[in-house]
Amino acid sequence: MKKNIVVLATGGTIAGKADTPNETGMYQAAVLTVEELLDAIPRLKELANITGEQIAQIDSANMSQTIWLTLAKRINTLLASPQVDGIVVTHGTDTMEETAYFLNLTVKSAKPVVLVGAMRPATAMSPDGPMNLYNAVLLAQSQEATGKGVLVSLNDTINSSREVTKTNTALQDSFKAPELGYLGYIQSGRPYFYRLSTRKHTVKTEFDVTDLTALPRVDIIYGHVDSDGVLPAAAVAAGAQGLVYAGVGNGGMSQTMRDALLAIADSGIAVVCSTRVSSGVVTLSAVAGYGCGKFIAADTLNPQKARILLCLALTKTHNQAEIQRMFGEY
Ligand code: SIN
Repeated sequence: MKKNIVVLATGGTIAGKADTPNETGMYQAAVLTVEELLDAIPRLKELANITGEQIAQIDSANMSQTIWLTLAKRINTLLASPQVDGIVVTHGTDTMEETAYFLNLTVKSAKPVVLVGAMRPATAMSPDGPMNLYNAVLLAQSQEATGKGVLVSLNDTINSSREVTKTNTALQDSFKAPELGYLGYIQSGRPYFYRLSTRKHTVKTEFDVTDLTALPRVDIIYGHVDSDGVLPAAAVAAGAQGLVYAGVGNGGMSQTMRDALLAIADSGIAVVCSTRVSSGVVTLSAVAGYGCGKFIAADTLNPQKARILLCLALTKTHNQAEIQRMFGEY
């Protein structure tokens, strides 16, 4: 029997239009509606019973916590119904990894949730969107995708939302989990899984968006030669309740940055150390050393994902040890 899949559309290049078929860089994202996206792939009807909803119509650079909360609540409502078997979210690729990880921490269902986008607009002479969307629906209606957390699928690959990142500004094989690798592939109408992320997700997290209307402000500070305390101080003045520092190497920082961040941590604001390096662990021991026990280590979360976990953590606690525990679990 065919499964019931809901496609929630948010815009992006998958719904984008350019003036000519060879233009893949200069185009308008978020033009096609969810109905137009679905109508472009008649064979989708053979895969599943599909309904579409337009949640937003944006370039994903304009994604916001308001839309995140709407999306998470809508997915939780839909998946609580026995009439819905899985969800596909169409999304711009630029911030897809952030939305996917936010949902991975806040969706309360083991049913499949798959984020999908495209690197080429729908008007390209060889667009990637239709095949990507077909594969995403295939994945969302599959038994294999159940209980694996929120997934990201483009270019015939399956990625964990915790580990995936956009690695190339333009190429179709942009979405990867550096060094940790794909969870699997989609080939000839079948998903093939080979590994899983070991971190807690969806039904096993402690985060609940049911009554949330906003997330605490958390800013990212980028480490570089001659970086100082000006930007961290500006973030705190703007109301940040937490900072993520994208450090050099294993979360490292200049003495000036260190002094500034220690003073901020002393004032009760959470400081998480991530890295500007594209892979590897920011270790507890290194962070305990230069943070004098006052900073939190981001583990392998990149700065933009560490920011999401810190936002959600701050909805539960401001205790540094508790937040560090969460960075070890999620
Ligand atoms: C966007 O992120 O909305 C634009 C870029 C893309 O989808 O590839």
